[in-house]
Amino acid sequence: MEKLWICLFAIFLFIVANAALRELQLEPEDTKFDHLTFTQFWAPEACRSIDPRCKFTNVSSDWTIHGLWPTMGNTHGPAHCTNESFNQSLLTADMLKFMDKYWITYVKYEPNPSFWEHEWIKHGTCAVDGDKTEFLNQKSYFQTTINLYNKYNISTILTKANIKPGMSRPLDDFLNAFKTSEIGKTVRLDCNGVFLLDVEICFNLSLQPIDCTSPTGCSSKKNVSYEPY
Ligand SMILES: *[C@@H]1O[C@H](CO)[C@@H](O)[C@H](O)[C@H]1NC(C)=O
Ligand SMILES: *[C@@H]1O[C@H](CO)[C@@H](O)[C@H](O)[C@H]1NC(C)=O
Ligand SMILES: *[C@@H]1O[C@H](CO)[C@@H](O)[C@H](O)[C@H]1NC(C)=O
Ligand SMILES: *[C@@H]1O[C@H](CO)[C@@H](O)[C@H](O)[C@H]1NC(C)=O
Ligand SMILES: *[C@@H]1O[C@H](CO)[C@@H](O)[C@H](O)[C@H]1NC(C)=O
Ligand SMILES: *[C@@H]1O[C@H](CO)[C@@H](O)[C@H](O)[C@H]1NC(C)=O
Repeated sequence: MEKLWICLFAIFLFIVANAALRELQLEPEDTKFDHLTFTQFWAPEACRSIDPRCKFTNVSSDWTIHGLWPTMGNTHGPAHCTNESFNQSLLTADMLKFMDKYWITYVKYEPNPSFWEHEWIKHGTCAVDGDKTEFLNQKSYFQTTINLYNKYNISTILTKANIKPGMSRPLDDFLNAFKTSEIGKTVRLDCNGVFLLDVEICFNLSLQPIDCTSPTGCSSKKNVSYEPY
């Protein structure tokens, strides 16, 4: 069992390292974006798939923030736009308290601030490009993400559509739940096999929801499994 864990963790690190390498090939002038992607994890599956050592009992909320990503078209970028470092003392105590609960890492020995630092360096530095009021600086980048999380509560949206943890439903049922919610647009789902892993909501540059256009990461041929919390 120990060996399997180590092996899975090694694979995970390999994927992360490769993703990092791909990002480094980005040209510095490639910092433009035309919308924002807001991603939230379904905690049980994030815990199960991200780090085999994750202790789900310690997860304090069902849907948690992954990040808010400036996005160009159907790409995964831009990323790493400036070298402004993460500085926790720019955030208020209230923000940090909130983030410790709802913006958590699933990598067992990683402290939450390392995860926030990663999100800042990779994505936040691209959002703060000087001319958007919601993204004037590091603090407003994190605050805007917190505000979006509070505004679009995925648990509530799915519950209203009668989709509850433990259920297995066709992909279209999930998509319709979001389309008929206050989001009113097509979201993008990611699955790990048949298991729902995350939901991405797309926003235009005035932070109004828009249709996500990247191909969905869940199969429409098999029901999507919304694991019990
Ligand atoms: C559980 O989470 C809290 C913060 O929410 C953290 O301080 C603590 O170290 C975590 N415990 C374990 C065993 O991971
Ligand atoms: C980024 O790095 C460059 C070159 O090392 C330096 O000139 C610049 O001041 C740095 N910018 C910030 C925001 O740290
Ligand atoms: C972090 O921000 C604080 C508060 O603005 C500032 O005093 C400090 O110099 C900053 N630290 C770094 C490493 O930039
Ligand atoms: C989202 O709604 C659920 C109930 O549907 C609630 O328990 C949870 O606290 C809400 N999350 C936030 C961040 O308000
Ligand atoms: C998929 O979900 C639908 C609706 O809940 C259900 O009727 C159907 O039996 C499910 N199919 C499978 C293969 O689980
Ligand atoms: C974002 O969408 C809203 C609602 O459709 C629209 O009023 C606004 O002009 C859009 N903003 C941008 C920058 O496209």
